[in-house]
Amino acid sequence: MEYKKLVQKIANLDWAKANPGDIVLLSLCTAKEFASSLRFGFDLYPNDERFKEMASGELKTDNMVFEDYARKGDHWEFLDHFVTKYKITPTKSTIPSAMENYVSAVEGFSDADRAMTVFSREEELTLIFEKIVAAHDWDSLGFGFYKYYLKQHILFDSGDNGHAHLTKHFPMHKPTLERFYKARLDLYASLFPYGSTEPK
Ligand SMILES: [Fe+2]
Repeated sequence: MEYKKLVQKIANLDWAKANPGDIVLLSLCTAKEFASSLRFGFDLYPNDERFKEMASGELKTDNMVFEDYARKGDHWEFLDHFVTKYKITPTKSTIPSAMENYVSAVEGFSDADRAMTVFSREEELTLIFEKIVAAHDWDSLGFGFYKYYLKQHILFDSGDNGHAHLTKHFPMHKPTLERFYKARLDLYASLFPYGSTEPK
């Protein structure tokens, strides 16, 4: 399936039926992997100012402040802080193994391909994040931090000087992105009954 179609498919998953804590845990997993994939870019594109500007908004940054979290960190550290604080643990046994499978799939990509998946995410994730924000009442669940996390990302990635704009000069390799978003869809499948993303 074409990668843009896979992105659509992910966006259209029935997020309201997925357990909110499990969604947060998958985000923590992908945010950690995102940070390590992004770090390959420093060696690959040392003279690219737009890359560096984008990375400065993702890594060791203080652009996320919520409740008692106000320090420099990668964005996954923001999520990790609240996952620990609110003792969020998986509700399904399939979640940890799906996370392991996702990470090893991405680790099978070359450094340049991993960086490219990050640049693609800057463009594609906004749509997915908007759907996830709307799917649950994050504030009444006590997960206001996660709504804040998603909304901040939508803000950082979009607009004239947003991350998507800063990285759109990098070429996209469609077959690699197909593999990437397929791995991502497989990860999200673990949120649903029978590990399936197909409507029953
Ligand atoms: Fe971003």
